[in-house]
Amino acid sequence: MSDELLQRLRVDGAVPAHIAIIMDGNGRWAKGRSLPRPLGHHAGMGAVREVVQGCLEAEVAVLTLFAFSQENWQRPPVEIEALMGLLEEYIAREAEELRDRGVRVRILGDLDRLGNGARQAVEWVMRDTAGGTSLALNLCISYSSRAEITRAARRLAEEVAAGRLDPAEIDEAAIARRLLTAAWPDPDLLIRTSGEMRISNFLLWQLAYAELYVTPVLWPDFTRRHLFEAILEFQRRDRRFGRVTA
Ligand code: IPE
Ligand code: IPE
Ligand code: MG
Repeated sequence: MSDELLQRLRVDGAVPAHIAIIMDGNGRWAKGRSLPRPLGHHAGMGAVREVVQGCLEAEVAVLTLFAFSQENWQRPPVEIEALMGLLEEYIAREAEELRDRGVRVRILGDLDRLGNGARQAVEWVMRDTAGGTSLALNLCISYSSRAEITRAARRLAEEVAAGRLDPAEIDEAAIARRLLTAAWPDPDLLIRTSGEMRISNFLLWQLAYAELYVTPVLWPDFTRRHLFEAILEFQRRDRRFGRVTA
């Protein structure tokens, strides 16, 4: 079934070069099974495996996953500990396979707020997979888009103050180059699971012209097939970028 969809999206049109996903609904998935929330996050790791696999198969170049927001630091400490533990577990379990399959992992966010264990794990996986060229996998952890844009503005101001930059040279490209996503094109497709119709402070600048795809599927239930369905829907969209259709 999902392989059929994969064949179809290959012939139907261009595959998005960059897919971004707000992985939402782990808590509701657990609640629906009368389980504690951390078990929902644990189940969500399976969906991460699914989408990485699906992106490799569909030859998507960049996959950016929203795993933990700066606002999520306001959650109960036990939940935060569970999430950070899972991050370490994911890296310990998957790093070797990611490297072997040519996946290059990068972590985007304020890593200073991570505990020692999680920070060492993310620094190690970034080094260990640095040679990967098949798929760029960006994990947004302790990430806030407004904080990212604010940091870019501060850096521009510092460069102007130091006499290294003329304010007249500040254009959109100059801002984009100072964002955490400077190395990649903007996302073509944003997927949000669990039916929520909001951006939640994710890639506000970069999503300017992304196609939005919201599915009621809860993150732990999201599979390759759901990813391929989203790509097929993307291929049916008419992206006009403000122009009129030819
Ligand atoms: C997404 O699932 C994971 C994180 C935000 C860390 P949630 O934990 O937000 O799940 P819901 O939205 O409560 O169902
Ligand atoms: C957004 O989900 C952040 C991540 C998926 C990591 P949230 O569950 O935190 O977002 P809100 O609170 O519903 O907006
Ligand atoms: Mg949520």
